[in-house]
Amino acid sequence: MWSYRNPVDVRFGRGSFSKLGELLNGRTYALVTYGEPFFRSLAASLEKTAGAPQLIIDDIAPNPDIALLKLQTARFSRLSRQPEVIVALGGGSVIDSAKVFAAARGDFDAIDAYLKKRAGAETLHPSPIIAVPTTAGTGSEVTCWGTVWDNAGGVKFSLAHPGLYPEFAIVDPELMLGKPRDLTVQTGLDALSHALESLWNRNSNPVSLAHAVMAARGVLSTLPLLVNDLRNVELRERMACAALLAGFAFSNTKTAIAHSLSYPITLRYGVPHGIACSFSLPMILRSVAGEGGICAEGLQAIFEAEPRHAADFLAGTLEKLGISTDYHRYGISVDDWRALITQAFEGERGQNFIGKQGKLLAAAGLETEASAA
Ligand SMILES: NC(=O)c1ccc[n+]([C@@H]2O[C@H](COP(=O)([O-])OP(=O)(O)OC[C@H]3O[C@@H](n4cnc5c(N)ncnc54)[C@H](O)[C@@H]3O)[C@@H](O)[C@H]2O)c1
Ligand SMILES: [Fe+2]
Repeated sequence: MWSYRNPVDVRFGRGSFSKLGELLNGRTYALVTYGEPFFRSLAASLEKTAGAPQLIIDDIAPNPDIALLKLQTARFSRLSRQPEVIVALGGGSVIDSAKVFAAARGDFDAIDAYLKKRAGAETLHPSPIIAVPTTAGTGSEVTCWGTVWDNAGGVKFSLAHPGLYPEFAIVDPELMLGKPRDLTVQTGLDALSHALESLWNRNSNPVSLAHAVMAARGVLSTLPLLVNDLRNVELRERMACAALLAGFAFSNTKTAIAHSLSYPITLRYGVPHGIACSFSLPMILRSVAGEGGICAEGLQAIFEAEPRHAADFLAGTLEKLGISTDYHRYGISVDDWRALITQAFEGERGQNFIGKQGKLLAAAGLETEASAA
């Protein structure tokens, strides 16, 4: 038996950002975005159709940290009335921060307890969110969770609540035209990772499979072209669609071992999320050779090759994009790599992985195939 649910109302296409005012429909709103001029000009154009926001939070930093989120949430607590809608205009860091503000409604302690003790889910009544992604990567516009980082504590939390699915996702590829090459690669590979992670996943089902195949094929056929043609709106549109489909795939499965492995790599080695969760994909792909079911079906449909050849192809694609698949290049020692892989299986996301620890260690060259069997 399986089920699939995703309640997000999606508006996709060039110029769709102009519909945001209509979708707000006279409601009061807070705008969460970055402080750069491009985002200020988008905020100004929104103001013309939707009126001024009640509050602007425009100091979102990459990888939202719990300490900054606390300060930002305090600005909501000073409002006499909470905004009716939270508008998130930006990448995953903006959308995930917006999810924290939507759930907290000015009360950071409630979120802190929920993140750290998993207490009080029933007391959270998140405000509606309208998500306007400006990166083609995280899929956060169609998921009900957000990643909260605690750099001081060296840990990462996941804020998850069914009330955090955005009410609307407006995906406008024109907003992505100014993304530099590195960001385009990082976010594109994050999307690829979401698609593949939803396949080697205990929670996969035929609907997530269909989304994952379309998503991964879209990234693999588009990203290598896009990196040499960054202002090509058609390619941006294809990447935006692929990232959205990957979001639909993993919105119901969650991620798996590559993401579990990635969090300490981002926290300790400072590797951006999209790289940290994707440079290990060929190794993981090699390790799932022999798994059947949806995983095998999906990988065959994407790569049209058996997993070992698919892994070689994927490693070549990453290397051509300038992403090394060698953990040493990220400053990780062989002992740390072994420990990271072992620990990744214990993490919540790691437990979604259908593969075996011995096989992954063998694919990493840390154990022989025979001892893994
Ligand atoms: N909620 C989820 O399901 C989910 C999934 C994957 C990742 N994440 C999280 O998302 C975060 C990463 O998000 P991200 O990769 O989208 O990047 P980001 O939001 O961290 O942004 C990175 C940088 O990109 C710039 N930027 C964003 N859009 C731009 C544009 N259109 N043009 C020019 N510059 C632009 C920003 O100014 C910022 O400096 C991480 O914290 C990660 O953990 C969440
Ligand atoms: Fe991710």
